[in-house]
Amino acid sequence: MEKLQNTTIFITGANRGIGKSLVKAALAKGAGKVYAASRDINNLPDFKDNRVIPIELDITNTDLVAHAAEIASDTKVLINNAGVLSPGTILEGDMEGKQKDMEVNYFATINMMRAFVPILEKNIPARIVNVASIAAYSPLPFIAGYAASKAALFSATQAVRIELAKKGITVHAVNPGAIDTDMNKGSEMEAMGNPDLTAKSILDEVEKGILDIIPDDMGKGMYDTWRKEPSKLAAVFHDMYHG
Ligand SMILES: NC(=O)c1ccc[n+]([C@@H]2O[C@H](COP(=O)([O-])OP(=O)(O)OC[C@H]3O[C@@H](n4cnc5c(N)ncnc54)[C@H](OP(=O)(O)O)[C@@H]3O)[C@@H](O)[C@H]2O)c1
Repeated sequence: MEKLQNTTIFITGANRGIGKSLVKAALAKGAGKVYAASRDINNLPDFKDNRVIPIELDITNTDLVAHAAEIASDTKVLINNAGVLSPGTILEGDMEGKQKDMEVNYFATINMMRAFVPILEKNIPARIVNVASIAAYSPLPFIAGYAASKAALFSATQAVRIELAKKGITVHAVNPGAIDTDMNKGSEMEAMGNPDLTAKSILDEVEKGILDIIPDDMGKGMYDTWRKEPSKLAAVFHDMYHG
């Protein structure tokens, strides 16, 4: 497996949270160039490193996605990190939030893959890294629309992995547990993962060629529970929901 040193990496949602940490981790790995994509480049932190190339990109804007693929035509590793979470159960909460989760986390992310695969094919060996969620395995009722969108993304990730298997593009799925970012602001969940450690762990496992990555301890615990017996993780979430 190719290391990330001297590689060109494209990261969406790079201005905060796990995306920002992924930029720092990519630089620490010795990446040659990091395209840091953000809906508003003014929100990007100063990474104080001239290997970072800011790119303005809302992944739901198909023109901007096409333009980004044109500018970043030397990308070898595409990290689809951008995502949104709208709270709400299946029966309650607004439908717009559920549509938005699906729009960003699923449709826009598969559109990113469609736009970038033609350039990744020219830069093989290449990789796509899709950040889904542990909720892709078993849904939490109070974020059920988000969980469905991540299950859809996880499914698409596995499908495209097979589709691209003979083209020199490796496709990784990342399914973290709860990480301490804005997405979990106000959450009372304990022992959330640290975004910097999570990002480092993601890139370490990408370098090792691990296809299904659970980068944090909470995620690993949940995944082990699910793997032994899927209903056991559902029982944990039942208890979290009903108290
Ligand atoms: N935190 C967790 O517990 C957790 C667990 C599992 C998976 N994840 C996943 O990890 C990824 C990163 O999440 P995070 O925790 O770092 O969340 P975050 O702090 O809320 O950051 C989300 C990032 O996605 C960007 N984004 C949202 N909509 C976008 C769009 N339409 N186009 C481009 N960028 C967009 C945001 O940009 P703006 O600043 O412009 O809004 C921001 O940079 C997400 O896919 C999330 O679902 C997170």
